[in-house]
Amino acid sequence: MKKIFIGVAWPYANGPIHLGHIAGCYLGADIFARFHRLKGDRVLMVSGSDQHGTPITVTADREGVKPSVIAERYHEINSRALVDLGIEFDLFTKTSTEGHKREVQDFFLKLLENGYIYEKETVQLYCPHCKKFLPDRYIQGICPHCGYEEARGDQCDNCGKILDPMELKNPVCQLCGTTPEPRTTKHMFFRLSALEEQLIKYVEERPYWRSSVKNFTYNWLKSGLRDRAVTRDIKWGIEVPVEGWEDKRLYVWFEAVMGYLSASVAYSEMKGDPKLWKEYWDEGMDAEHYYFLGKDNIPFHTILWPAMLMAHGGLKLPDNVVANQYLRYGGEQFSKSRGVSIEAGEVLKKFSPDQIRYYLAASMPENRDTDFTWEDFERKINTELVNALGNYVHRVLTFTYNNFGEIPARGNLSEEDEEALQVLKKTLDRVENNLEKASIKDTIADIIELARFGNNYMSRTAPWSLIKEDRGRCGTVLNVNIAIVKGLGVMLAPFLPSTSKKILTGIGERDLRWDEAMVVPGTGFKLKKTEPLFHKVRIEKESFPEFERLNLRSGDVISV
Ligand code: MF3
Ligand code: ZN
Repeated sequence: MKKIFIGVAWPYANGPIHLGHIAGCYLGADIFARFHRLKGDRVLMVSGSDQHGTPITVTADREGVKPSVIAERYHEINSRALVDLGIEFDLFTKTSTEGHKREVQDFFLKLLENGYIYEKETVQLYCPHCKKFLPDRYIQGICPHCGYEEARGDQCDNCGKILDPMELKNPVCQLCGTTPEPRTTKHMFFRLSALEEQLIKYVEERPYWRSSVKNFTYNWLKSGLRDRAVTRDIKWGIEVPVEGWEDKRLYVWFEAVMGYLSASVAYSEMKGDPKLWKEYWDEGMDAEHYYFLGKDNIPFHTILWPAMLMAHGGLKLPDNVVANQYLRYGGEQFSKSRGVSIEAGEVLKKFSPDQIRYYLAASMPENRDTDFTWEDFERKINTELVNALGNYVHRVLTFTYNNFGEIPARGNLSEEDEEALQVLKKTLDRVENNLEKASIKDTIADIIELARFGNNYMSRTAPWSLIKEDRGRCGTVLNVNIAIVKGLGVMLAPFLPSTSKKILTGIGERDLRWDEAMVVPGTGFKLKKTEPLFHKVRIEKESFPEFERLNLRSGDVISV
């Protein structure tokens, strides 16, 4: 039994999460977590709303409300959407809790004590018109690395590099469009440069990272690490626990990544076992640490957070950082601010969680960006989920019910039956192997392929003819088919939890573990008449012009 810690990127509470977020990290993490729970491993999966910093205040300014209003509104909306999609966190919390603040301030003081934090006069951009410093998202300009024109003060959305506002060319104030001027201010800096060698070694010891993650990280390390300011001249965020620093706040990224730790502590307290988190976090413990995130979050998880953990000492570093590329929509990156978005809550009004989970798993942007289209959604649901999977399971169970009323016994196996069970076993092994590597897209395709194989085996063995000639042989063939159905039920559990449950209860099984998938189905179990697992969906052509959001109001999406 392993101990698996899973940290999933904390969504900014400045808008509703959309399909890009779900495909980007939540679904993959959930499938991975469910798989490990199914294997009997101990899993701790945490995340929460990222509620501080300029992503929140910019939205609050725009709406003319307090930042806390925005932060709480979207925390509620997003927590609900995740639950409704069946994303099963052990704890989904938020960064505005007292517990998080306490852990962050302690962590900060520890880095200070260890000599990794120091104070320095620095030059930052100041808007003479708005009369304030312009951190992070309050500033836009040209990226010094790739030339992208809408780079933000803290990061370029195009090349992913982490920036300092002072590096931007042609910077402008996001509030009023004025060209800001440099002014001195003092900040606390994190001595990232001191950890360069340790970080290179750390990355070299993890050759199993996805190549995109490795490449990005190496490139960054190659260009040399600079110390980074970890405080900001704003009012919304966690206070710097040092006297004389009352009018500054900790940088949102510096503080949010510590959420992985603070949420683990909070979970332990919730469980009435305050030391529990140590079993996952103490360096000496044999827990495995996985992080799931979108590609724009890579440097914070492969450089900043490991560096902070090194500077702190005694805590587990990330083992695998599983970053996805983007799910795009109409050729563009999903983005709420640019109006290219399909909100999770909206889609859930029309489609079941398993339909959505299926589509997103089958098109997960693991190695390159993938495109969401409603045509593709319709096609995948109808041909794969309905025709291949749903049809096979229904065919087997209905025929068996009509002719035997129960799961028939297995007699001598023919070569063809043995081969079918081999295919099942091989699929199970491959699926297990690939899920260990958090590879989702190919794995769900492999499972659907097994359903296609099952359909084929059913047709070849033709139980409808056998029933007239040799009832015993017919029973054997159906028993083997039910074994495949059972295997499908187990393998689908991480991907489509309620479908899996339906399949398994239909054949008298519940709470199966991964290693029980090959056990011969329970002979004699009384079957009931079954309903089809899925129905076809039809989406009207005019409802998916590429750049428009699906109009979900007027019944133009029809789940038949
Ligand atoms: N809020 C960030 C985003 O949406 C992700 C933060 S992840 C964590 O891009 F490291 F802070 F936890
Ligand atoms: Zn750039």
